[in-house]
Amino acid sequence: MRYEVDFLVVGSGIAGLSFALKVAPFGKVCILTKGDAAEGSTRYAQGGIAAVMYDSDSFDKHIHDTLVAGDGICDREVVEMTIREAPDRIRELVQYGVNFDRDGHGEKFDLHREGGHSEFRILHHKDNTGEEIERGLLEAARRHPNIEIKERQFAIDIITQHHLGQRVTKHTPGIECYGVYALDCDTNRIDTYLAKVTLLATGGMGNVYSTTTTPVISTGDGVAMVHRARGVLSDLEFMQFHPTSLYNPAEKPAFLITEALRGAGAVLKDRDGHEFMQKYDSRLSLAPRDIVARAIDNEMKLSGKDYLYLDARGIGRKHLIEGFPTIYAKCLSIGIDITRDMIPIRPAAHYQCGGIKVDRNGESSIKHLYAAGECSCTGLHGGNRLASNSLLEAVVYAHNAALSAIDVIKGVPFKSEVPDWNAEGMVLNEEMVLITQTKRELQEIMWNYVGIVRSDLRLQRAFDRLNLIFRETEDLYNRSVLTEPLSELRNLIACSYLIIKMARARRKNVGLHYSLDLIEKKV
Ligand code: FAD
Ligand code: SIN
Repeated sequence: MRYEVDFLVVGSGIAGLSFALKVAPFGKVCILTKGDAAEGSTRYAQGGIAAVMYDSDSFDKHIHDTLVAGDGICDREVVEMTIREAPDRIRELVQYGVNFDRDGHGEKFDLHREGGHSEFRILHHKDNTGEEIERGLLEAARRHPNIEIKERQFAIDIITQHHLGQRVTKHTPGIECYGVYALDCDTNRIDTYLAKVTLLATGGMGNVYSTTTTPVISTGDGVAMVHRARGVLSDLEFMQFHPTSLYNPAEKPAFLITEALRGAGAVLKDRDGHEFMQKYDSRLSLAPRDIVARAIDNEMKLSGKDYLYLDARGIGRKHLIEGFPTIYAKCLSIGIDITRDMIPIRPAAHYQCGGIKVDRNGESSIKHLYAAGECSCTGLHGGNRLASNSLLEAVVYAHNAALSAIDVIKGVPFKSEVPDWNAEGMVLNEEMVLITQTKRELQEIMWNYVGIVRSDLRLQRAFDRLNLIFRETEDLYNRSVLTEPLSELRNLIACSYLIIKMARARRKNVGLHYSLDLIEKKV
């Protein structure tokens, strides 16, 4: 089938939905999403969204905290723009129907604090903020007559001059996006979507690693598509590991224990019940995430233990049960009463700071292709994202991208000469194990060699192992009918390759990139 739409959006998380709602008054919008519309990292966000809403805080402080967490390599202008726009974007979320908790009088927003923040500035909805945001935006999008949401449609590749038979390299000037090819997961048919403007809002790539807080859909599809289309990507060495995921080995994804719990007073402890963060940073359990995750990793390696503890008992029973109902219920379901027991935790891959390089308007290096949310790289996060700045970045850049796209579509025709996908001569791969086992191998390699602490040797090992996996998978791809699992595996391999490549090129320990071979010797 062939479709023509003004605005094509790939992804129905906070970034895709915010963009869709903004452009919908100006043309037909089609949102493709590979699972159920509500599934994505957005709905699992717990802590909340950072913004300066009152005079007790200031833009300067939020800017300063963001720059410090980013370890000196954020784009300062982007940081200033994003943080100053935040209050307006929050007010829009409220207008779309999103509820944030308010104080006892109902006048002001109730604000939480998280690691790296010098003030209480996290707007939240109990400890399930993302679920509330996704609900509000999805309901608003479903009400809009110009927005069509198509579930179980898996975008495979963006369409460029390459599909018209031209040779496209990284150096080809003026690469253009004409839409995407997408697999209908129910019929296995590959459709052609032509669009005037395409927005990638495909989320993160946490599933490159064996332990991650991100849902199974986070397989770096947008980044991999832009890589194949020869677009510009950046900062992928900065994978953020959240310090505290619930230790419950059989569970995937790993359940997050929000940093807001530490903001409310919970402290990290070793297996003997002793605090240890004083050895690493004066901000103790509320130091930025990279420092806390490395400290936990080091303590686990020293003691040989699989997990440490987060002690929330000092917060008090009422506050814990009322303020953190999701975490309380989850832990209780596996026999841990957080009002009486310490919580077993370990770090997990959580957020990709890098991605598709975009300008202030959210436009990528490929013409008419925009990116927003976790798949993009705006310059806001630098070497390490400050907690609760990603939902903020998603709404700010969805807004900027929408303003630009509305203008752009006026002069863009559909590229009707684009051919349909050619699947001639392909056979169905009947051995799923070829895909599932390769994915497991890949995730273990990345966890063990390209994780929180790296070294030249570990990166080299990972690269060599990946080469073999890459060749085997490309061979499978070249003779098989394309399926969602095979496509995701290719994307995970591409993302892993890019992470390793960028990690090897970064010859200084900055933010989340930490290599034993780059520790500066004191003279
Ligand atoms: P997502 O919400 O992940 O949505 C991606 C969408 O793209 C999905 O609809 C998916 O189906 C679709 N998609 C992907 N690939 C394809 C494809 N090939 N074809 C079609 N559709 C596709 N950030 C904060 O700021 N504050 C928090 O408190 C916070 N807590 C978090 C807690 C957890 C457990 C996790 C995992 C993350 C948290 N984050 C938090 C990070 C934040 O939630 C994410 O960065 C953000 O929600 C990403 O939004 P998004 O719209 O970019 O992507
Ligand atoms: C958390 O609630 O700890 C996660 C916040 C974030 O990832 O920004």
